Amino acid sequence: MNKLTFFPKNTIGIFDSGVGGLSVLREIRNQVPDSPIIYFGDQFHVPYGQRELDEVYSLSRVITQFLLNLGAGIIVVACNTASAAALYPLREEFQGIPFVGMEPAVKPAAEKTHSGKVGVLATPATFQSKLYNSVVERFAKNVKIYQNTCSGLVQEIEKGNFSGIETRNILENALYPMLENEIDSIVLGCTHYPFVIPLIKEIVGPDVTVIDPAPAVAKQTMRILSKDIDSGANKNKNNTILLTSGSIKEFKNFINLIDINNYEIHQVKWSQDKSEINIVHEK
Ligand code: DGL
Repeated sequence: MNKLTFFPKNTIGIFDSGVGGLSVLREIRNQVPDSPIIYFGDQFHVPYGQRELDEVYSLSRVITQFLLNLGAGIIVVACNTASAAALYPLREEFQGIPFVGMEPAVKPAAEKTHSGKVGVLATPATFQSKLYNSVVERFAKNVKIYQNTCSGLVQEIEKGNFSGIETRNILENALYPMLENEIDSIVLGCTHYPFVIPLIKEIVGPDVTVIDPAPAVAKQTMRILSKDIDSGANKNKNNTILLTSGSIKEFKNFINLIDINNYEIHQVKWSQDKSEINIVHEK
C-alpha cells in the first residue's frame, strides 16, 4: 500500500528514466508555481535509451498507474524514449487521462534552418522508434539530419557531471563532425541534455541554435491544466514531491545542483516482478 497522499487530486505527475525530466519540471514550475507536482525518476532502470521499446513501455505503464494512484490527474512523459515507446499505448490504456509527451523538435528546426542541415542528439531507442521516424518523414524531408546518440552522456549527467572532461569529450565527438557538415541548429532529443546546454553552446558557438523542447511541453501542460484541472494547491506546503527508484543520496546530490525549491524527496522500490512500485517509508 502506498501512503503518500500529500496532495489533493489533480496533481501533475511527471516521469523520466532518471533526472532528465527535471529539466521539464523546472519549466513547468516556472509556468505553474503553485500546482502540486509528483516527479518519478526511474533511476533503478536508467538508462532507458538502451532498452527495448517494449520494456520501456512496460515500465512506463506501471509508473503511470503509480502516479495516478498517488492522485495525479495529468501525466507528463518527460522522456523522449518513454514517449517514443509508450505515449500512444498509454493514451489507449488510460482513457480520459490527459498525457503530454515529448518528441524531438525536428519540426521547428526544419522550419528555421538556413543551411538545410540539422543535428539531433537522442537515445538509440528514440532514433529507432516509429514516432521519431514519422516526425522526420513528415516534417524534415528536405532537410539533411545528422544524428548522434552521445553514448554515455545520460550516465554522466545522472552523476551531475555537466562540464567535466568525460562530458566534454562525448559532446565534442558528437558535435564537431556535425559542425564540419555545417549544421545551423541542434535539437536536444533527450530530456537529460538541457542540463549541459551551456557546454553545448560553448562547443557549437553563437551561430548554431540549440533547441530544447521543454518550454513547449510546459506550455502544453499549462493549456491542459487550465482546461481540465483545478490547479489550486496548498501553498503552505512543499508542493513538489520528488521520487527516485535509485539511490536517494545520489538523487539528493543532483537536486542540490539545480534550481528547484519547496520539495520533499522519497525513495520508492519496484516489486521483484516489476508490476508494482511502493514508497520506502523512512524509519
Ligand atoms: N531522458 C530520456 C529521454 O529523454 C532518456 C535517457 C535514458 O534513460 O536513456 O530520452
